[in-house]
Amino acid sequence: MTDRLKVAMPKGRIYKQASKLLREAGVPIPPDVDDTRKLVIPLPELGMEFIMAKPVDVPTYVEYGAADIGIVGKDVLLEESKDVYELLDLEIARCRMSVIGLPDWQPGIHQRVATKYPRVASQYFREQGQQVEVIKLNGSIELAPLIGLADRIVDMVETGQTLRENGLIEQTRILDITSRLIANRVSYRMKNTAIQELCDRLQHVIPGKAVQQQGGSRA
Ligand code: PRP
Repeated sequence: MTDRLKVAMPKGRIYKQASKLLREAGVPIPPDVDDTRKLVIPLPELGMEFIMAKPVDVPTYVEYGAADIGIVGKDVLLEESKDVYELLDLEIARCRMSVIGLPDWQPGIHQRVATKYPRVASQYFREQGQQVEVIKLNGSIELAPLIGLADRIVDMVETGQTLRENGLIEQTRILDITSRLIANRVSYRMKNTAIQELCDRLQHVIPGKAVQQQGGSRA
């Protein structure tokens, strides 16, 4: 295990807010990291190494110790259910997971729901006592009710623009979502000083109230 802290960074829309927060916390990420296509980025001057990962894979890298810590949305954490510590609510990339349908949606006998989150969606409808068939998609979920693949979808809403532009209605808000700092269980012990120092720095700059679960919890 190297001394360098291996950080799984989410590529894509969370990256911008995550890197901004880290910079505010006193981690001066060089500007060229923002645009690079490199996937492993040694940052020896920061005592770190960035691993640029697809957000959905961040908990996997962390669970297996390929990364010591990572930044990932709570939506992914709930869906992936990996054995990692959830250290901090970073209060960034705020959005919500909702049930969405066309304005004229009517409950039918056999309901189909398309989603990137089959585990979370199935649990939600089970708790509601609603029997639905859940169909897993990997993106552009809003297409499903528009072209008759599913009656409704469970998906993320941030600005609401995608819904508006596709004539869809948010029926029920299931969960509020933000990004979290997660850690590998062994790394949390072996690199505790570095991880704790980063947590302390982050807590000073987190917008809003941070939630720290000492020792972490299974996400
Ligand atoms: C996400 C989500 C919605 C959209 C919501 O998709 O699945 O489609 O963003 O954002 P909005 O409320 O601001 O419009 P993403 O862009 O990540 O791509 P995807 O369709 O491939 O999942």
